[in-house]
Amino acid sequence: MPPKYTPTGILVCPPTYFDVVDRKNPFMTMESLVDREVAKQQWLSLRQTFEATGLQVHEYAPLPGAEDMVFSANPALAGLNRSGDRAAVASRMRFPSRQVEVPAIVGRLTELGYTVDTSIPPSVCFEGGGDAVWHPGRHVLYAGYGWRSDAASHPVLARVFEAEIVPLRLADERFYHLDTALCAVDSDTALIVAEAFDQSGLGELQNRFKRLLRIELDEALSMAANAATGADGSIVIDCAAQKTIAMLKSLGYIVRAVDTGEFRKSGGSVYCMKQYLY
Ligand code: ARG
Repeated sequence: MPPKYTPTGILVCPPTYFDVVDRKNPFMTMESLVDREVAKQQWLSLRQTFEATGLQVHEYAPLPGAEDMVFSANPALAGLNRSGDRAAVASRMRFPSRQVEVPAIVGRLTELGYTVDTSIPPSVCFEGGGDAVWHPGRHVLYAGYGWRSDAASHPVLARVFEAEIVPLRLADERFYHLDTALCAVDSDTALIVAEAFDQSGLGELQNRFKRLLRIELDEALSMAANAATGADGSIVIDCAAQKTIAMLKSLGYIVRAVDTGEFRKSGGSVYCMKQYLY
């Protein structure tokens, strides 16, 4: 039997030191300050929601001063190789303030049984699950590049996971990570922000998913594409995405709406607040 490329768990990091202190992406305007107490409540309820879908939740410890560490999708990418062994690639974060997150997640992934590759050269950026999204149930990896990750990282992904890599150039800085523009809902269906891709990227997605559901720009800017599928096939998504939620429900999906308002101030939401585990 070939391995089943569907997540069974997630790795999360509590938002103990979460803050917005600089402008790594266009959402980080610092117009309204982070309320850490509200952030903590939103994170706890997101964690519970993921657990309720049947995903097993693992945690790692936050580090003082690592203000973005709650976005555990970014410092690595976990997956399986062709034989079904747990494999991961350590990121090379573009911003120095996030580089301390990498050894922390590498240590935790190693404890969880992953062989973690650290061979991406220092001159090449790669931001893990933020820019690399697995096709549910298939050994195909969509790899976004242009803002935070470099295409030069792709050969490492191909070698470690022995997977087909589909490079997707990100054309619009507002969709600076692939997971702000693409949510692979199931093996046939993806939510996409069409504005984020070039013609060739859109063509690749059309060829590989039977059904592409377009997110309208206003909701795309509220991180509607940064949604994630649970172990039961339900979709966890920010509650601001009302039109997207209605569209998903009309197609028969079970939707679990959560509030990630504090984290959207940092340019993140549901998807990037966890690392999928396989
Ligand atoms: N403030 C974080 C950064 O710019 C947000 C990361 C959100 N992650 C994501 N995969 N979209 O690095």
